[in-house]
Amino acid sequence: MKKVALGVSSSIGIYKACEVVRGFQKNGVEVQVVMTRNAARLISPLLFSGLSGTTTIVGLFEEPMARTVGHISLAKEIALLCVAPATANVIGKFSGGVADDFLSTLFLASRAPVLIAPAMNEAMYLHPQTQANIARLRALGVEFVEPEKGYLACGDEGWGRLAEPESIVKEGLRLIGRTASLKGKTVLVTAGPTREHLDPVRFLSNPSSGKMGYELAREAVARGAEVILVSGPTSLVPPAGARTEFVRTAAEMQEACLRAFPKADIVVMAAAVSDFRFKDVRTRKAGKAEVGPALAVEKTPDILALLGGKKRPGQFLVGFAAETHDILAHARKKLVAKKADLMVANAVGEGEGFGTDDNAVRIIAASRPVQVTGLLSKLETSRVIFDRIEAALEKKRR
Ligand code: CTP
Repeated sequence: MKKVALGVSSSIGIYKACEVVRGFQKNGVEVQVVMTRNAARLISPLLFSGLSGTTTIVGLFEEPMARTVGHISLAKEIALLCVAPATANVIGKFSGGVADDFLSTLFLASRAPVLIAPAMNEAMYLHPQTQANIARLRALGVEFVEPEKGYLACGDEGWGRLAEPESIVKEGLRLIGRTASLKGKTVLVTAGPTREHLDPVRFLSNPSSGKMGYELAREAVARGAEVILVSGPTSLVPPAGARTEFVRTAAEMQEACLRAFPKADIVVMAAAVSDFRFKDVRTRKAGKAEVGPALAVEKTPDILALLGGKKRPGQFLVGFAAETHDILAHARKKLVAKKADLMVANAVGEGEGFGTDDNAVRIIAASRPVQVTGLLSKLETSRVIFDRIEAALEKKRR
């Protein structure tokens, strides 16, 4: 049975949290309520204990929670941390990494998906500080159920009313479902640039940071897939739960991909593979005087096209197209030429694409309308891409 931790903070919308508990329970999900101290002044924790069938947690240092280091053990058990209602204070604490009570400590200790349903006065909700906190949390992967517009407890009309419990539960169940949506599937992701050396100290490469590919690998792990990440040189920490294989050159990346390809159900080629390599590679550093005015280069193997040619029914191939101009036309051509199922196109150049934390992509498939995402964090982009892959696989199955 799946377990949800329901964080309850001190907003007038707190009464709706009872319905949220019921909603999860009706769907076979166990609920552990965690209240902030101020919330426990608005409603007795006993009410939630009675509803949920488990003792409501309020303090960090109360028995038996302190003895079992409750925030850590609960963090490992839950499939979702849902906070409804979430005050501006709780959102601010999560965003700033403050951990001074059970709920904020649980947020830091847990790797489960997080869903926040804010509820507060409109001025507080729309305050640039609250909006900045929300934006920061979104970039970290936290999801939100937007508050609604209507009559507020302070007598104002405006944005800030807690969303309806059904919407919160529905979104929560979707996030729980997503944690296993790729279970049983093997996903191969490539990331980062490749380096094509002239000699031990000089190489041809590009500014790819690997962030997009690493986020894709992390998202595939979060959805329950077996993940193989083939990474060119980057300065990133490899995603926990993925099998990461480090390569340097296009030839090494090709070899690693060909090895993993037979067992892969989904391949996402996010790597910026260098298109050229030096014909004459030197094992010792070449002195300036030894190098003439022109260096001969040759094309590297096109890994995506190679995999496209070997694709068996059921395998799903996603390519990336980094373009400075005529983005859609180029990406469409590559989709066909490389026999990919999807092409994710993005603009690169001045301040865009390479090395940034955000991305705005267009997803292209044969005879489907182009999906335009607008500017999203790379983590959010990776979710949009996997949602699209899953939808396409589902369609194929039917
Ligand atoms: N790709 C690849 N092997 C290469 C070059 C590219 O597998 N040698 C893959 C990339 O990982 C990406 C897709 O092909 O998924 C498109 O890469 P891109 O550099 O945009 O296209 P190219 O085919 O290299 O075309 P061009 O450089 O002429 O735009």
